[in-house]
Amino acid sequence: MDSPTLITAVTNQKGGVGKTATTLNVGGALAESGLNVLLLDLDPQGHLTDGLGISQAPAGEGSANLYRALIGEYTGSLADLITPHSAPAGRLDLVPNTIEMFMAVRELDKQRAREQRLARLLSAVRGIYDHVLIDAPPSLDILTDNALTAADGVLIPVQAEDSSLKALRLLLPQIASVDADLRETPLELHGLVVSLLRRPITKLAESVLAEFERLDGLPILGTIPLGVVVTEAWRSGRTVVDYAPDSEHAQAYRALAKTLAGGGQR
Ligand SMILES: Nc1ncnc2c1ncn2[C@@H]1O[C@H](COP(=O)(O)OP(=O)(O)O)[C@@H](O)[C@H]1O
Ligand SMILES: [Mg+2]
Repeated sequence: MDSPTLITAVTNQKGGVGKTATTLNVGGALAESGLNVLLLDLDPQGHLTDGLGISQAPAGEGSANLYRALIGEYTGSLADLITPHSAPAGRLDLVPNTIEMFMAVRELDKQRAREQRLARLLSAVRGIYDHVLIDAPPSLDILTDNALTAADGVLIPVQAEDSSLKALRLLLPQIASVDADLRETPLELHGLVVSLLRRPITKLAESVLAEFERLDGLPILGTIPLGVVVTEAWRSGRTVVDYAPDSEHAQAYRALAKTLAGGGQR
């Protein structure tokens, strides 16, 4: 590894916009290109863990899992929380969900330095992986604050719908407040990933896309059309580049991964 680890939070408090699909498939594409990638399932619903066909981490007092690590009860090595997925060329590893993650928001709220927990944990993997992608929950809560504090940059999946414009009007001020209160350097806004784009593109979708394009400092980094191959790959516990390597969707995720790895459109 000759470049520093890039930690990316995949965030949007709106559910169903493609956060998990982006995390696992960009991760798959980065690994396919020979990079070492760690994915982290920060959403208590555990969709990322399911989508990779990986078992949840054990639960209960004394267990080694992400929840126990975040609340400071597990103090062992982060390496022991990692499950390997596949190694097509580089590495694709996961810190899986545990059923106990549902308690994380409540427990973290009682703690000091509660927003910095994930950043501290991930400092152990800097230099080991090329990329870390964090699949954030669909809420502006303490877990999302942890993702925004731990990351170097953020990818924001959106749909070409008015509700996504509204979601951005809440998310961008949240990012600004994390920048102001919790970070030493501002979070890099890598850009938007327009996901689940229905074709042919409707007039309404076109007008929302035009509004996205007008957003200053927030480029559209990639577009992923709606396609059954994404759900089929997910159901079989594989990434799209592995499940359907020649598909248009695999190409779209590879292009997105390349842009991210190349430093976005900076
Ligand atoms: N490009 C796509 N085409 C078809 N289905 C998709 C696509 N991207 C995501 N999905 C599906 O849409 C649903 C919502 O996507 P998901 O990534 O889970 O969103 P989020 O993590 O933001 O809640 C999931 O069932 C997922 O499999
Ligand atoms: Mg999700």
